[in-house]
Amino acid sequence: MSDPALLMCPPDYYDVIYEINPWMSVRRQADHKKAVRQWTDFHNLLVKTLKAKVELLQAQRGLPDMVFTANAGLVHKKTFVRSNFRHKERKGEEVFYEAWFRKKGYRIKTIPKPFAFEGEGDALFMGKFLYTGYHFRSDIEAHDLVSGYFKAAYDGLELQDAYFYHLDTCFAPLDEESALVYLPAFDPYAQLILIENIPNLLKVAEDEARRFACNAVVIGKKIVMPEGCPKTAKELEKRGFDVYSLDFSEFIKAGGAAKCLVLKI
Ligand code: ARG
Repeated sequence: MSDPALLMCPPDYYDVIYEINPWMSVRRQADHKKAVRQWTDFHNLLVKTLKAKVELLQAQRGLPDMVFTANAGLVHKKTFVRSNFRHKERKGEEVFYEAWFRKKGYRIKTIPKPFAFEGEGDALFMGKFLYTGYHFRSDIEAHDLVSGYFKAAYDGLELQDAYFYHLDTCFAPLDEESALVYLPAFDPYAQLILIENIPNLLKVAEDEARRFACNAVVIGKKIVMPEGCPKTAKELEKRGFDVYSLDFSEFIKAGGAAKCLVLKI
């Protein structure tokens, strides 16, 4: 199967103007020029070097986190399950995502109101199996519905460290048998599930996990991750991956890096 296309949103209105995770501080706003440069370098790497097909969504004034398209929803076989954001600050994004996917001809599914669901940020396929992360941003009830929509078996993993509030901040499937993981981000039972089910777990060290090592974009045997994670990069290279390390410092100020900036479509 060919690699899926990716959806990105340029950082036109990106900034840190509210605080909805421990990384964010309104006293530490993003350097706009630098953010644009980092996003453009990443986009160029994906398109020109890695030959990924990238679609763009138009940014909206007043919705600074729209740059993190991973949270738009979850896409599988031309069906888009739209997110229900936990925080009011991001709820305004939902209509723009839904409109984009509707226009592109995707089947649209939603989750009933009381349940939060933050898309691929908290739901990652590993082959046909779905791993989901719940507690901070998504509710397990939503994941139950999502897995039903896609007829995919899933395990819900409870997150327990507010710095790793989305699944994609502490877990990245590499192929059907291996994944990058920062285990302490998960509650003890979830850790057990990961250890028992995934034959090759590449455990990321705390310092590199805090530099978003797990927030990586995997395209076949190529992987894009934040710089400053040499131990993880070396382990990946040993396993035959080509590692591309980029600076995502401006996005880390909002609690996101490489993976948060793309959505598989
Ligand atoms: N500031 C954003 C938020 O708190 C960052 C989202 C990061 N996205 C992700 N998929 N981890 O919602």
